[in-house]
Amino acid sequence: MPQLAIAGGTPVRSRPFHAWPLQTREQVEAVAQVIQSGRWSRHLLRDPDGLVATGDPASPWQTDLFEREVAEFIGVSHALAVSSGTVAMDLVMRALGIGPGDEVIVPAYASIGTATCVLESNAIPVFADIDPHTYTIAPKAIARCITPRTRAIVVCHVGGRICDMDVIGRLGDERGLAVVEDARHAMGSRRADGRAAGTFGRASAFSFGPSSILTAGEGGLIVTSDPVLDQQVRVLHDHGLELVECQPRNVAFGTSARMTELQAALLRAQLPRLEGLNERRHANVKYFYEAIQLIGGLEMTTPPEPEGFRCYRDVILRYEPGAFAGAHRNRFVRALQAEGIPCSCGYDEPIYATPLFREQRFLKGSCPVNCCRVGKAPNFAHYKRTCPNAERAARDEAVWFPHRLFVGPQSDVDDILYAIHKLEEHADELAAED
Ligand SMILES: Cc1ncc(COP(=O)(O)O)c(C=O)c1O
Repeated sequence: MPQLAIAGGTPVRSRPFHAWPLQTREQVEAVAQVIQSGRWSRHLLRDPDGLVATGDPASPWQTDLFEREVAEFIGVSHALAVSSGTVAMDLVMRALGIGPGDEVIVPAYASIGTATCVLESNAIPVFADIDPHTYTIAPKAIARCITPRTRAIVVCHVGGRICDMDVIGRLGDERGLAVVEDARHAMGSRRADGRAAGTFGRASAFSFGPSSILTAGEGGLIVTSDPVLDQQVRVLHDHGLELVECQPRNVAFGTSARMTELQAALLRAQLPRLEGLNERRHANVKYFYEAIQLIGGLEMTTPPEPEGFRCYRDVILRYEPGAFAGAHRNRFVRALQAEGIPCSCGYDEPIYATPLFREQRFLKGSCPVNCCRVGKAPNFAHYKRTCPNAERAARDEAVWFPHRLFVGPQSDVDDILYAIHKLEEHADELAAED
């Protein structure tokens, strides 16, 4: 009689976990008010009749208010709301003047947008390996990637874990390189000294996609404490428009990446709950962490720190097959899913190994493949050798749990633990069908 659900046994959990996104009355009312107002988009320079908008101090844009509130929450002086996290990264690269022939160091283990922002600027992403325990970009690997062509370092706070920003910041300063934070997983992540993700780089990007801690379904944010950079991305995100002698003029090669007023209102309505939800997740993750330490073969990439406060967009475990009779990580994940526990393998290949990079499916005739400033196409195949930690994390080790599993009561965490114990107890059955 099989015990494991993957082999036909009874699943540990048949009830759904906490739903995400949360649906609250405040959000419905906030969006309804915007709909009724008829002001659905902060067109920076023109109103719907094509007239230059002067703004109405009595009814400020939701987008302006959100930018002010979220900047204060993060601890930066400037924030610009945009249409997605990916576009946020693209605009930062453009504003930094990254271009053909430039190299930008990016983590090998992150989402595709962490590297495509470099391609967007016709520059070359150079992949650095990650730390084997935290899965964030390894400072030593960054140092090895620096060449005379390097212009910037992009870091990604994977799962909400803040990278080693002191060391990376010093490296950037010493070598004259801009540091950019892909903070899309890290809204509200703070270190023990109180500094939040988004405050370390020249500029940082956040996402408000469906699985984000703050979500409008879609959306993004650029934050910086550099007023010049803020002005540049502001111009770029709205067709390169700027007021010249009170008239909107296209002064730069921009794009259309405005956030709508509906999104901004939705996000504003969520802000007051953000800290409380992060604290609830943190308490549940701490409980999970303490129990996980007693189980062999599982290590958390972001252990909760007593003084520090981390947000968890994902809880990521490092899986060691020896403790589960040699069953591969993919089998472990499928078996947990069958037990009714939502989880995944996360990024299941390093960015350089995706078909986009492996087969160099870039824009025809453009950089970085056909670049007169570079001479020859970059070789993305060699990263398999230089990024062994990213290879292992992606293909064999990482197990990702979405944050919504840690928003509910502690009994939800007990179910996850019970399912893991069950796999451990029946490890032979788990491995047998691998
Ligand atoms: C690290 C990282 N970068 C980029 C993105 C994509 O952001 P968006 O969907 O807002 O463009 C995500 C999505 O969550 C992400 O996790």
